[in-house]
Amino acid sequence: MSQTQREHWGSTWGFIMAAAGSAIGLGNIWRFPYITGMNGGGAFVLVYLGCMLLIGLPVMLAEFAMGRASQSDPIGAFQYFQKGSEIIGKCFAGVGILLAALIAVFSSNYGLAAVVALIALAVYRWGFTVVGFFCSLVAMLILSYYAVIGGWTLLYTYDAFAGNLNFANHDEAGKMFGQMAANGWLCTLGMVLYIGICAFVCYAGVKKGVELASKLLMPILFLLIVVLVLRAVTLPGAGKGISFFLKPDFSKISEKSILDALGHAFYSLSLGMGILITYGSYLPRNRNILSASVSIAFFDTLLAMLAGLAIFPAVFAMNMSPAQGPSLIFQILPITFNAIPGSLGWLWNGVFFVLLAIAALTSGISLLECAVATAMQHLKISRQKAVIVLSLVIGAFALLSCWSVADWSCFPQLEKMFKGLFGSVKGNFLDELDYICSSWILPLDGLLIAIFAGWVLGVGKCARELYRRGDAEPLTLSCSGNCRSKLNMQLSVKAWSLFVRFVAPLLTLLTFLYAVGVVKF
Ligand code: PHE
Repeated sequence: MSQTQREHWGSTWGFIMAAAGSAIGLGNIWRFPYITGMNGGGAFVLVYLGCMLLIGLPVMLAEFAMGRASQSDPIGAFQYFQKGSEIIGKCFAGVGILLAALIAVFSSNYGLAAVVALIALAVYRWGFTVVGFFCSLVAMLILSYYAVIGGWTLLYTYDAFAGNLNFANHDEAGKMFGQMAANGWLCTLGMVLYIGICAFVCYAGVKKGVELASKLLMPILFLLIVVLVLRAVTLPGAGKGISFFLKPDFSKISEKSILDALGHAFYSLSLGMGILITYGSYLPRNRNILSASVSIAFFDTLLAMLAGLAIFPAVFAMNMSPAQGPSLIFQILPITFNAIPGSLGWLWNGVFFVLLAIAALTSGISLLECAVATAMQHLKISRQKAVIVLSLVIGAFALLSCWSVADWSCFPQLEKMFKGLFGSVKGNFLDELDYICSSWILPLDGLLIAIFAGWVLGVGKCARELYRRGDAEPLTLSCSGNCRSKLNMQLSVKAWSLFVRFVAPLLTLLTFLYAVGVVKF
């Protein structure tokens, strides 16, 4: 699709808000505070910041550069650049087969070994285009279960304002959550509503839909979190929570924490799914990718930190346990907010769940948009048709996650298949899918994107795209004209190249091998 036909963001701010909307999601508000608590508080935050800067940001730049240069969806972006890279693709396929053998031997996880071998064979046959295809596929898969959790946030928002979250202890909270999750019809309603809102926004287009919604919703989200932080840190006894979250305890940092931090940085920035390739492709050529990316990573981290500052002080002040994992946001927090003196529990709960719903919605919109861009380009259908068809397909698939939470034994064949393939089942279809997507496929996709950008596309081409201003031929990096700024540029390109070519692939590979049990600590 040519530059003139493709819809573009109206402003850099709109682009930053849309990408930050994708990045800021349940991962920031629930997962980050929770894994931080488990990994030594402030010390983990420092490791996480390092991972963001040294690995997350370089891979993010690579995705944006690929998207903007190709002005294409993930599949199109890989197609655009892959000419001449056939040999690298074939070598890479060989490495993939080796990896599959390693997984089979060391972890006896034959299902995974077969999946990796299949991907390697597909790369051998079709080249790196396959990676683009996987990106869009994974975006759809993730949306199918993210929509169920998104649906819960909508249902809880309603319950908060209706005053139904007025439980006082953990048992009552657990009962209420259990009843909701076990009610397949209610969860289906929430999920359909969630996908419906995402579809409505994507249907309206890039500028009038995704950009407008992000520009409206993201400031509201920041405002709400600041209100919650102010409430939480002024509670008597909040200090313990603040120091739990922020005081570094380096003795709790292990190799595992570093890989946890890296995995979370990928998840949190929405890397490895082609979302940023898609959003980059809506960027006109005269926008500065570098500074926009730094702002996006900054907002993402800021919100995660604010979420920690809103959650832990309140949890500690009310003498609740912070290490509750998944139940923290749906069970412990409502009890915590109810216990705040002043009988405004429903209001604090309401504010929190609106916040959570907004965060979940803007991430869902980006997942759907990535799939829509791919369908529009490769099935040659209109945006409207793509949105309707994909929402229906994803919604139908989401029923599996939705009803498996209600009762996994609804799908005895599926349960048996998972047991056969992976040895054990984690809980239900939603948990399985989340585990496969975030622990296996995302690091693998991230690894492939880093390798593609660093080795196939080449650092020079990528860097020229990052520094491009306008339609003119991108500047050269050799030293003529303003030597000082060129020297700075050369230095930062060298640093970026080091991380995207060596550090990011090595560490993402390690994260993946650790997740699948080949590497153990
Ligand atoms: N980045 C989102 C979060 O932190 C999660 C997400 C992953 C969103 C993948 C879109 C795609 O919650």
